Amino acid sequence: MTTALEIQDVHKWFGNHHVLDGFSLRVGQGEVVGLLGPNGCGKSTVLKIVCKLLSLDAGEVRLMGQPLSALSYRARALVGLCTQHCALYPDLLPAENLDFFARLYGLSDQDRQHRVAELMEIFELENFANTRVGQLSGGWQQRLHLAVSLVHRPKLLVLDEPTAAVDVEARMDLWRLIEGLRDSGTTILLTSHHLAEAERLCSRVALMRSGKVFAEGSVPELLSRIPGQAVAQVQSEDKEAVTQRALDLGWQVRQQADQIRLLLPEAFSLREIVDALDGTQVSAVRVQAVTLEDAYLELVGESALTV
Ligand SMILES: Nc1ncnc2c1ncn2[C@@H]1O[C@H](COP(=O)(O)OP(=O)(O)OP(=O)(O)O)[C@@H](O)[C@H]1O
Ligand SMILES: [Mg+2]
Repeated sequence: MTTALEIQDVHKWFGNHHVLDGFSLRVGQGEVVGLLGPNGCGKSTVLKIVCKLLSLDAGEVRLMGQPLSALSYRARALVGLCTQHCALYPDLLPAENLDFFARLYGLSDQDRQHRVAELMEIFELENFANTRVGQLSGGWQQRLHLAVSLVHRPKLLVLDEPTAAVDVEARMDLWRLIEGLRDSGTTILLTSHHLAEAERLCSRVALMRSGKVFAEGSVPELLSRIPGQAVAQVQSEDKEAVTQRALDLGWQVRQQADQIRLLLPEAFSLREIVDALDGTQVSAVRVQAVTLEDAYLELVGESALTV
């Protein structure tokens, strides 16, 4: 697979704060890679470096095979950036916003007209053709923002928490649009705190902590690193008894806030689990197949032991 973006051993300091500490990541052409990690771990800093909005202190970034340092202003045309903070002109109409940004990127008159009409259609913005952007709902503004970030046909689309500030319905709509872009071969690097979002959209996920990637792989690869096929979330007044019973059964146990998570070696039925825990004062049990959230918790736990 041709490499669209290669980030190698990047370091970034803000004063004494070593924010990126040997960060490396590769994004193949046509891949959707999700960068996940806790607040402040450096995700947006990575994206800003890729978009040349911030400089790096050490390491190298190559975009479409060329070092970012040699790309100067042209690098910005290779990348389209969409963040959760809307960077649109509220007094202009949707098409006027698209046209404005198309001009900035130097599209010819004819191409601009074509591209604006095309994006208005793909993003179903025609119904709001006469509505000033400031009057659009947050979800529709974000939709237009995504369209604007694509106006110059970038080789790499960079999305910083693209659905963080919108409601559930708008999030589903944005997911469908991003899936459409993915299925038509757009290369995307995105950050998110929504593990379900990453699970749904990403072909590969990189987990980040303390300024570097500590685990990466496709969602099935990351799921396979959990020592279990399913997870039972158990509420009980007697956690010790549940824990001991699960350990006796050979199940792994994880404590999370006031819940116990049992990693099950097989996808047991609810009845089988309740029977297995019989006599341990269980007040509620929920069983589900392992998710990216389980993998994230598991791998964060592992990395905390080694970092
Ligand atoms: N311009 C700046 N000057 C000084 N410190 C900064 C600057 N930008 C970011 N930081 C610090 O760098 C660290 C990483 O910030 P960054 O925004 O990359 O995190 P993030 O992973 O995107 O977090 P979040 O999930 O909250 O968006 C944080 O501690 C932040 O306070
Ligand atoms: Mg951020």
